[in-house]
Amino acid sequence: MNEKISAHANAWYQQAEQKAAQYFASLHVQLMENRYVSTLTKDFHLWKKKHIHYDSLLSFLSSGKRKADALDYHRYIGWLNQTGKLDDYLDRSVSYMYMRDLGKDLNSPGIQNRVQHLASDIKKHLLRPTTSKEGVQPEFISLAGLYRWAQKEGVENAVIWLINKLKNVSAHIPQQMNAEHAQRKLIKIIIGVVLHVMEEMDDAALPAERSQRLDEGIRLGYFYGLTYPFIDDLLDSEVLNAKEKEQYSDMIRNALLTGSVPDLGEWDVVNLEFVRYVHAELREAFEYIKSYQKPEAINTFFEQSYVFFHAQDMDRVKELSNPQYSNEELYLPVILKSSSSRLIVRSVISASEDEGFDRRTFFYGIYNQLADDFADMFDDMKAGAVTPYTYFLKYRDQRSDLINPYELYWTVISYLIHDVYHSDAKAREVILDRAINGLKRCKKRLGKQKYNEIMDIFASGNPELNRLIQRMVRYADDVDFFDKLLRDQMVTVLRNNREEKEYFWDTVKNIRQQINQQLLISKNHSVSSINESLIDAANYSLEGDGKRLRPIITWVMGVNEYKLHASAIMPLLRSLEYMHTASLIFDDLPSQDNAPTRRGRPTLHQVHNSATAELTGLYLIQKAIEEQSSLRGFDPTAVLDLIQYSSQKAGEMCIGQSMDLQSRGKALTLEQMNTICFYKTGIAFEASLVMPAILAQVKVSEIASLKKYAYHAGIAFQIKDDVLDWEGEAGLLGKPVRKDVENNNSTFVTILGLEGARRAMWGHYCLAMEALNEMPRSNGFLVHLLDYMVNREN
Ligand code: IPE
Ligand code: IPE
Ligand code: MG
Ligand code: MG
Ligand code: MG
Repeated sequence: MNEKISAHANAWYQQAEQKAAQYFASLHVQLMENRYVSTLTKDFHLWKKKHIHYDSLLSFLSSGKRKADALDYHRYIGWLNQTGKLDDYLDRSVSYMYMRDLGKDLNSPGIQNRVQHLASDIKKHLLRPTTSKEGVQPEFISLAGLYRWAQKEGVENAVIWLINKLKNVSAHIPQQMNAEHAQRKLIKIIIGVVLHVMEEMDDAALPAERSQRLDEGIRLGYFYGLTYPFIDDLLDSEVLNAKEKEQYSDMIRNALLTGSVPDLGEWDVVNLEFVRYVHAELREAFEYIKSYQKPEAINTFFEQSYVFFHAQDMDRVKELSNPQYSNEELYLPVILKSSSSRLIVRSVISASEDEGFDRRTFFYGIYNQLADDFADMFDDMKAGAVTPYTYFLKYRDQRSDLINPYELYWTVISYLIHDVYHSDAKAREVILDRAINGLKRCKKRLGKQKYNEIMDIFASGNPELNRLIQRMVRYADDVDFFDKLLRDQMVTVLRNNREEKEYFWDTVKNIRQQINQQLLISKNHSVSSINESLIDAANYSLEGDGKRLRPIITWVMGVNEYKLHASAIMPLLRSLEYMHTASLIFDDLPSQDNAPTRRGRPTLHQVHNSATAELTGLYLIQKAIEEQSSLRGFDPTAVLDLIQYSSQKAGEMCIGQSMDLQSRGKALTLEQMNTICFYKTGIAFEASLVMPAILAQVKVSEIASLKKYAYHAGIAFQIKDDVLDWEGEAGLLGKPVRKDVENNNSTFVTILGLEGARRAMWGHYCLAMEALNEMPRSNGFLVHLLDYMVNREN
């Protein structure tokens, strides 16, 4: 690296380090003089008035309003509301966010108003009547909820972009790293950046400007957030070997100092694909962030980023076996990394300088870092990582000069309340709420015994204060926070999602295999070889690499939902795939879409001729009816109903296909387009949901919600098909791309443009999801099916 540049970097870091050293020195003095002990004791005596309710045990026993478990999100919010605690809860949570995330002084003009405003907005949202049936995600954390917000703010494009980016992150994240935590951290950073953008914005900003700024905020948030999984967590993990880590660190350092991500260079083969992906993502991030920065702010951004990175690096290279680190060596990087990570958030959005913010944020960082490290102490110990806690645990007996990090933690709290927030009552209230909540959570997670062990080690220096604190941990009420609820909920949702998704794919693969085994038409009964050649032709089309979505849906609904026997509905599954395959054979004919390939092989009319293809299509449709009428073990009326329904739907699909062909070259309205798509595509999905319901003689009202879901899911599926025709990969699709353009077809892409088509698709996604939420039972399979439909690549 250029020497001039690295001299520059050293100067940046030294300057930051000096500031941190001053802060650390004043904390150290307060700690040595034990000043924080008496201050905090007074603070707690004031604080506890609102939090220790001596009658609470009595009322708890008599009122029957049992405290709801925070893990049950809906019930917990309901409980807070019923007991009159919700307003305080939200006020506390939002105040804390303004203080920590937005770096505000709660006492400064206007902030109280803003806090109240946001708290009441959230309250309205929380209390809106929604379904509270089990297994339904709170809309705060669902894709549909996110997209609905995007529509309200006019940032659909950015959110669609983000959904795609997040999907790629989790697809690429190596197994050794925790995908849920990576996603959660990313989301947290993005929310943080977006909140800053909202705060920066004038209330009078016009909607178009507001959308524009939020759009940029979302993208900046993602790009900045990438540094968490892809720089810090990656370097902490075992994905890269020592040599690769060095190479990777050099690359990042270089990028921060020169302003552009250098070329990748040579890498070991094992991690090549992953490293390539990360490299491309980081390069895009750098370019985007740079293009967004005001020229006068760009240096601040790189300077803070460098300090952030270097401080983390200093921390990372420490070894627990080294007994000689000084307190400064231990704490200065902690102060620097924790504060710069938050300071950057404002510079990344190119916000104007705000000295108050910088000051408060600089002092605040270490509070969170010491709280986090406290909670992670045992994991860090296992991993051999040096944090103030692990180091103290290991060397406290031989190093009397070592600062006790838990005591420093309370010193920071006292410093924040009195020196930074000028003994402001609200600041004291919220910070102590948070601190006690942190200990409560930790005690719950570790169990009493382990928790007490820790306290014996760390808190014995000030037995008086510790007794007081432990009393608060045991008895104080009303110290929980909404962001913690969301965090827990998000981790659960992300984890359940992953498990459900795995189950979804297992189911799909398994059933697909079963269907494939019983799909081909046998030639046992045939007498003449001419007949055989038509069967061969039908089997040629059936053998192709189809997704088998329609019969898979029917299997899951029939067997899992309606408890029908898998073997008994086999004829129905075959009939669905026969009809669908027939529709594809017709669709590909020269007289229709004139397509050369289908399901990864040449189309039937290419292999034979149109006449054979047409007859094979007809043959398959007849076979479908034969299969349906061979259904046994059901009420015969139900089977007749099914055949009647099926014939109607097949007829309607023909109408849809005919409308599609007639619309070529015409400017259709969106409504006409929706109708055509429902007929040509949606109906087949409807049929695969409704047919097993007919066989199971399910109530008409239940069928109505299924139809609503199928309508929107079907259109979403076709929009994705149109999008893939435009920009997909023929190799993955198994059919040609750009066929619609060639044929002058009207599609969602030609009517709405690519971005418009995607927006329409997500609109239908939300509507289909909302239809699912209306159903009496939650159906994980249909949720993931819909997810797959809009995210698929083939
Ligand atoms: C293709 O359906 C026809 C459309 C409705 C867009 P699929 O995409 O389900 O096709 P296969 O069965 O997997 O080949
Ligand atoms: C297919 O529409 C409708 C049918 C159900 C046949 P497309 O013409 O867009 O389907 P692909 O893209 O050829 O599969
Ligand atoms: Mg077509
Ligand atoms: Mg086609
Ligand atoms: Mg198509």
